[in-house]
Amino acid sequence: MSLVCLTDFQILAQQKLAKTTWDFIEGGADEEITRDDNITAFKRICLRPRYLRGVSEVDTRTTVQGEEISAPIGIAPTCFHCMTWPDGEMSTARAAQAANICYITSTYASCTLEDIVASAPRGLRWFQLYVQSDWELNKQIVQRAESLGFKALVITVDVPIVGKRRNDIRNELDLKRNLMLKSLQSSEEKNFKPDKQPSFINASFCWNHLSWFQSITQLPIILKGILTKEDAELAVKHKVQGIIVSNHGGRQLDEVPASINALMEVVTAVKGKIEVYMDGGVRTGNDVLKALALGAKCIFLGRPILWGLACKAAGRLVRSIGT
Ligand code: FNR
Repeated sequence: MSLVCLTDFQILAQQKLAKTTWDFIEGGADEEITRDDNITAFKRICLRPRYLRGVSEVDTRTTVQGEEISAPIGIAPTCFHCMTWPDGEMSTARAAQAANICYITSTYASCTLEDIVASAPRGLRWFQLYVQSDWELNKQIVQRAESLGFKALVITVDVPIVGKRRNDIRNELDLKRNLMLKSLQSSEEKNFKPDKQPSFINASFCWNHLSWFQSITQLPIILKGILTKEDAELAVKHKVQGIIVSNHGGRQLDEVPASINALMEVVTAVKGKIEVYMDGGVRTGNDVLKALALGAKCIFLGRPILWGLACKAAGRLVRSIGT
């Protein structure tokens, strides 16, 4: 089967993965209205093409937080890459480095941060944090990521509790049992002790805690999961350096706006003071163009990266949508 678009990767990945894994990757919350709307909302937007502009030479390079990347396309944080390919995040990191794009590594990576960095030492990486209840653990992991060369701290704000994904419940998927929280371990702690298992996520996290993060790290802070102008204004007020407009791929609160529809509201509210990125439903080069035209500095891909891993196609994936 030739893989010419992301849908081809999706079809092949489904054939390769166990049903429980597939359902976990594809699932959205509740009725999956937002998950599906992320895709269809893009299709309701038309391009207004302008011609005779001289495009024999095209340069897709751009910067994010001052770092150059080859295209405004990056890898959104997704957990447990070892579910889809044995060396998981290490393959992802190698592919991202080869493509010279930004890879946001999840708190719930299935490889240690040290192994991820060692497998692609020159790659641009940001670290995504699910704020844990244990503040000392938050401090340790953020400072560890910083000392390992991660260039930004992405704090996910849309998971005070985990969304209700119906197929995972039907499949009796026990995430807590299956968690391989390697990123929360140091490389010496290979034997993960159950009492070190953190509570899943800190539901009391709020705006006031951002200054604490700013006091423990020099890294730029980017909030992932903002969907409204009110929260975008608060993000600017709290002096963060970026926003990822996202609804978590429709996996958290259902019936919120499609990411592409929320993008313009957020871009308008921040008035160019900080960079705005987006993820959710980006599946074609046209989708990327639409997001850029509406003010995103860069887009990020979630599920398609996992499809690529399942197809053992690291490296080809970005090219298929980047052109
Ligand atoms: C995610 N997402 C996510 N987000 C995050 O901040 N930390 C994480 O660990 C994860 N894990 C995760 C696992 C899986 C299987 C999926 C599908 C998604 C959300 C992710 O970063 C992103 O917001 C969406 O996936 C983007 O939508 P698309 O590209 O999947 O449509």
